[in-house]
Amino acid sequence: MVSKNMGFGDSPILTDDTQIPGRFQNKSVVITGGAGGVGQALVRKFCQQGAHVFISDLSEKGCRAIQSEMNQAGHQIHFLAGDLREKTYCESVVAAAVKAHGGVDILLNNAGIIPRGNALETTDEMWHQALDVNLTAVFYLCRAAIPHMKANGGGAIVNTSSVWGTHPGPGHVAYCTSKGAVAALTKNLGRDHAPDGIRVNAVCPHEINTPMIRTGFERRGLDPDKAVEELNKTVPLGRIAEPEDIADVIAFLASEEARYIAGETVEVTGAKPVSG
Ligand SMILES: NC(=O)c1ccc[n+]([C@@H]2O[C@H](COP(=O)([O-])OP(=O)(O)OC[C@H]3O[C@@H](n4cnc5c(N)ncnc54)[C@H](O)[C@@H]3O)[C@@H](O)[C@H]2O)c1
Repeated sequence: MVSKNMGFGDSPILTDDTQIPGRFQNKSVVITGGAGGVGQALVRKFCQQGAHVFISDLSEKGCRAIQSEMNQAGHQIHFLAGDLREKTYCESVVAAAVKAHGGVDILLNNAGIIPRGNALETTDEMWHQALDVNLTAVFYLCRAAIPHMKANGGGAIVNTSSVWGTHPGPGHVAYCTSKGAVAALTKNLGRDHAPDGIRVNAVCPHEINTPMIRTGFERRGLDPDKAVEELNKTVPLGRIAEPEDIADVIAFLASEEARYIAGETVEVTGAKPVSG
């Protein structure tokens, strides 16, 4: 596949999905938020590259839709729909993936929500929801998956933080705090479980063109296409990220090519600083 961006000398930048089809051959991969913007890109990529994919999402309809798309492309995926705010559901996702695919080699904690507001605008419910989905579920899933990875000689976990977690963005105190804590959790797990052969890293994206930001624009009465066009002008690389831009970095961190990277947070920003 040729990306929309052109590199040096206008040569096309090739994405890797058609180049290394067996990169994740027979790996058991769990993807949370698999029905969302980045999640779907991850499902497509890992299926194309040979993985056995198990997804979690709140939306059963969304899970069925991506499952059916993958079936039509000749891939089988399994899913368990449910709410990551429930500890038993988080643990069931790992148990069901182990049952379906014999273990968990790669865990991608991608699901997330973005309550908007500063401290005075943030209710208890918004605060707890952000912490439960964005942080505590990540901890529960990691804690459930690590023993299976350890028993199997190792594995890889990629958590999704945000550049707003490492540098506070304006007016999103619950979101930024939860994502900052995901970065800290990643570094702690990365340190503790490297001796088990488990590499834990996080990706910290800036804005991505997914339902997460598009629905935010709609709620504020803006046309999402026009709003994204405006946002593109604020990025030194010329556009905000597409889901595939982030999925590529997550796949790299999960792959053998990143075998010496552990306990790291990788910012993916198109050179856009956090400002405002
Ligand atoms: N879109 C951005 O600009 C942006 C920027 C930085 C980081 N991120 C992070 O990237 C990740 C992917 O986000 P996205 O942009 O694809 O968003 P998205 O809204 O398209 O997808 C998120 C998915 O998570 C699922 N989810 C939400 N709450 C859940 C719950 N309680 N239980 C189970 N599933 C739940 C949703 O159903 C959805 O399918 C998130 O962690 C997000 O915080 C996004």
